[in-house]
Amino acid sequence: MCGVVGGALSRSAPRGASCPRTGAPPPRLVPSPRSVPPVPLVRQERIGLRKLSYCVAVSIDGFIGGPDGDAVFFNRFVHGDFLDHLTGETPEILPTAARRHFGVDEAPNRRFDTIIQGRRSYDLALEAGITRPYAHLRELVASRSLTGSPDPRVEIVSGDLVARVAELKREDGLGIYLCGGANLAGQLRDEVDELVLKTYPVVLGSGMPMFDSGFQVDDFALDSLRAFDNGVVVRTYRRER
Ligand SMILES: NC(=O)c1ccc[n+]([C@@H]2O[C@H](COP(=O)([O-])OP(=O)(O)OC[C@H]3O[C@@H](n4cnc5c(N)ncnc54)[C@H](OP(=O)(O)O)[C@@H]3O)[C@@H](O)[C@H]2O)c1
Repeated sequence: MCGVVGGALSRSAPRGASCPRTGAPPPRLVPSPRSVPPVPLVRQERIGLRKLSYCVAVSIDGFIGGPDGDAVFFNRFVHGDFLDHLTGETPEILPTAARRHFGVDEAPNRRFDTIIQGRRSYDLALEAGITRPYAHLRELVASRSLTGSPDPRVEIVSGDLVARVAELKREDGLGIYLCGGANLAGQLRDEVDELVLKTYPVVLGSGMPMFDSGFQVDDFALDSLRAFDNGVVVRTYRRER
């Protein structure tokens, strides 16, 4: 399973204050009748802002799985108030089988309507005989080796991956859930607009990193943080561009 949630702390933009030098009032925020009508808030949120969110389960020391990527040992923490949080706030980040297991298979998508994952992550579903592991979402799988899609409803991205993601961002709709793994996240690192880190209270020492990429310092701002009874912490970061 990959992914998580967001949204506990929200920050609002500071209100305009008088100019400290002249005492002039803040600029008029309500447009005059002759000015261009403001874009409705709901529309503003959608224009150019369809985000790529890397939602991933990590250890305290930042690994998303063991050396071979196996992340099954994280699953034992999916219970209690943390499970309530997952199923209540972003049930769409759960694989379809898990949604069924937890009784939320009919839950509507709240933050994401599209998922992209790497072929090696998708292989885990194929090995279980599942061709659409996130059947409640539009699914894309990055692969240059798959010659055809195992399912007509799953799009294989074999060309310019960054360009395809840029196209998806321009489309109308909910957010895009980058599932991983490390290789795909490394390829898409510069495109990631948001991180949703589900940190489990374990230390691994070594394993699969969040991004299989070179050294680079990227700044992110903390948007929300929530701690759960079992020690899981979910943090949401927004990229500062
Ligand atoms: N902890 C978590 O939340 C979490 C989440 C997701 C995954 N995981 C773990 O991650 C592991 C897999 O990660 P991974 O890094 O080995 O592999 P991955 O990122 O899932 O998949 C890598 C594959 O994606 C394809 N790909 C990557 N860049 C591409 C590009 N530019 N264009 C086209 N295709 C591209 C290639 O497929 P081809 O070889 O077919 O060309 C590549 O081999 C799994 O074991 C899984 O358990 C953990």
